[in-house]
Amino acid sequence: MVLTGALLAFSTHAQTIHSPNGRLALSFALSPAGEPTYQLRYGPKTVLQPSRLGILLKDAPGFASGFRVERLDSSQHDDIWTPVWGEVKSIRNHYRELAVTLTQTTGPGRQLVLRFRVFDDGLGFRYEFPEQAKLTYFVVADEHTEFNLPADHTAFWIRGDYDTNEYIYSTTRLSEVGPATYRPTPEISTQTPIAGSAVQTPLMLRSADGLYINIHEAALVNYPALQLLVDGPRHGLTSTLAPSAAGPDSKAFLQAPAHTPWRTVVVADNAPAILASKLILNLNEPCKLPDVSWIKPQKFVGVWWEMHVNKGSWSYSDATNLKLADTDWSKLKPSGRHAANTANVKRYIDFAAKNGLQSVLVEGWNVGWEDWFGNWKEDVFDFVTPYPDFSVAELQAYAAARNVGLIMHHETSGSVTNYERRMPAAYDFMRAYGYAAVKTGYVGRIIPRGEHHDGQWLVNHFVRVAEQTAARRLMVDMHESVRPTGLHRTYPNWLANEAARGNEFNAWSQGNPPEHETILPFTRLMGGPMDYTPGIFQIQLDAYAPQNKGKQVHTTLAKQLALYVTMYSPLQMAADLPETYERFADAFQFIRDVPVDWDDTRVLAAEPGDYLTIARRAKGRDAWFVGSITDENARQQPVKLDFLTPGRRYQATIYADGPGADWQKNPMSYRISRQVVTSRSVLNLRLAPGGGAAVSLELVGAK
Ligand code: NOJ
Ligand code: CA
Repeated sequence: MVLTGALLAFSTHAQTIHSPNGRLALSFALSPAGEPTYQLRYGPKTVLQPSRLGILLKDAPGFASGFRVERLDSSQHDDIWTPVWGEVKSIRNHYRELAVTLTQTTGPGRQLVLRFRVFDDGLGFRYEFPEQAKLTYFVVADEHTEFNLPADHTAFWIRGDYDTNEYIYSTTRLSEVGPATYRPTPEISTQTPIAGSAVQTPLMLRSADGLYINIHEAALVNYPALQLLVDGPRHGLTSTLAPSAAGPDSKAFLQAPAHTPWRTVVVADNAPAILASKLILNLNEPCKLPDVSWIKPQKFVGVWWEMHVNKGSWSYSDATNLKLADTDWSKLKPSGRHAANTANVKRYIDFAAKNGLQSVLVEGWNVGWEDWFGNWKEDVFDFVTPYPDFSVAELQAYAAARNVGLIMHHETSGSVTNYERRMPAAYDFMRAYGYAAVKTGYVGRIIPRGEHHDGQWLVNHFVRVAEQTAARRLMVDMHESVRPTGLHRTYPNWLANEAARGNEFNAWSQGNPPEHETILPFTRLMGGPMDYTPGIFQIQLDAYAPQNKGKQVHTTLAKQLALYVTMYSPLQMAADLPETYERFADAFQFIRDVPVDWDDTRVLAAEPGDYLTIARRAKGRDAWFVGSITDENARQQPVKLDFLTPGRRYQATIYADGPGADWQKNPMSYRISRQVVTSRSVLNLRLAPGGGAAVSLELVGAK
């Protein structure tokens, strides 16, 4: 049912609060049936029509209507905080708040609090369950939060799924979301698509009258991830949650006092403002870690891409059907293709040391890779036993002597019970051997069987990993995790996640279309940094192994450089092979130079699905870096350098698409040029189809 705007006028306790600048207006009201409803306006425009709010409880049905307003509390907040790392030096948290306490007039008279925060850049709200005799332990059967859009907006979306977010984006009208427009993605290993028409958050929307709207959630803890059912004809969205192993009507197990994550609606009248929003971070709790001095944004190389492009393997042997505990790994016959061997890792350490990269990731170092995937098997890895050709102690000494850090890899293959059991020993092992960071992975179906990547159990697991690593001063990067919701404010050791379709898909699937990286910042990155693994220079992958024939990265080489600026992350991989970077040392210079931590960020031009240009100022020094990317269409992108300090001269080094560059026909053509510029200069960047440009701006005489 859609409630009409007029209904609000008749209902009791209609309340409106405005954002600090007065432009956004949130109205709350009860319908005649006692259903909580809200609507949102941006100046004269409707963002959300009256939309119902409701939680369905399993053993106590009817927690969505029959309410009366008990009390209304309003307040405001304004402060500035400093992130441990990020896109900007400091963040203002400025909002007006309305808390509505509701009591049910039917049944035992249970209470619910709805808390709304209205910022200049959007709305956050959540359900709170105060401590009360009538509601102690309870099970949420589902959540029906509506987001009723006033018109059939353009949506940038991936399909709803409880286990994966590694889909290609579709751009359609909301009314067109559905099986006919689901883009085929057979290469995803574990999918649990939601029946009917459903999309995941962050969902990006654009209205015909120029509003940009992003719907997601903040501070996802102890609750399943949000998904949205789409009612196309009505252009309405209704939330639904991932189920637990206990069944489809048992989604969240809570004990009052408790609350849901924040539901977020970021709103602006231009696309760059969506990317500049800090609303999701502001709705997260402040940093919980007493000491953060050991947390270091960093760039890394890794024994990684060579496996994805079939030059080597994670496994040590060709044996199969091995049992972790019963196998004498020292007796296995080596296949000769094992990439994580001591000599090869030393080569990466040397490369990192020579080029000022902070660390080296090693995948395939530990026993279990012979049949790690697809068996839904509990005991796959122990995370402490290296293969015979990988010397942990020798590599510790070798890396330390060269001042290079090591990143350990923990692929759980979805067996999370096994990982939970072994985490303390695994993290102690990391500390003992000098590892500062871990990349975790959750490929495959989840154990406990019946649980999902997006369910409450896994959501809690990811937070436990953040806490347990933090307790041992370890940084973490999670792959195949639930999509982030700003929790890196609270746990800044949680540097990045994958949780979307990364660059790696270009190695072994239909790949990512050239528009992909222009959409990700408006969707997946709204909740936090992504380990996208940019920096692939050898675009055509059959150069690495004949079986990669026809496989290529769907960008130009210059666009791969631009991604270091357009895809913000404090953890950036230089993903290609050292020998490839040696071949293109002049282009690699940009990866050496580009920072991973920033004092300022300016989104200069952006349109989801089409193009993106961002300038960022390096942490603690007067140097700027610009990244500019396009989709499959060539573009001219003027860049006014008026963000530079007036009166100073900067050396601009421009890494651009070269003559004839084209992501398909000629992706590796690039040209590097230099010129001296000031705050009055304008650069005219020419972006090839599927191309991009990267620019460093250093004070003249600084380097
Ligand atoms: C998928 C991850 O995204 C990738 O980075 C990793 O190499 C493989 N799983 C193996 O764990
Ligand atoms: Ca486009």
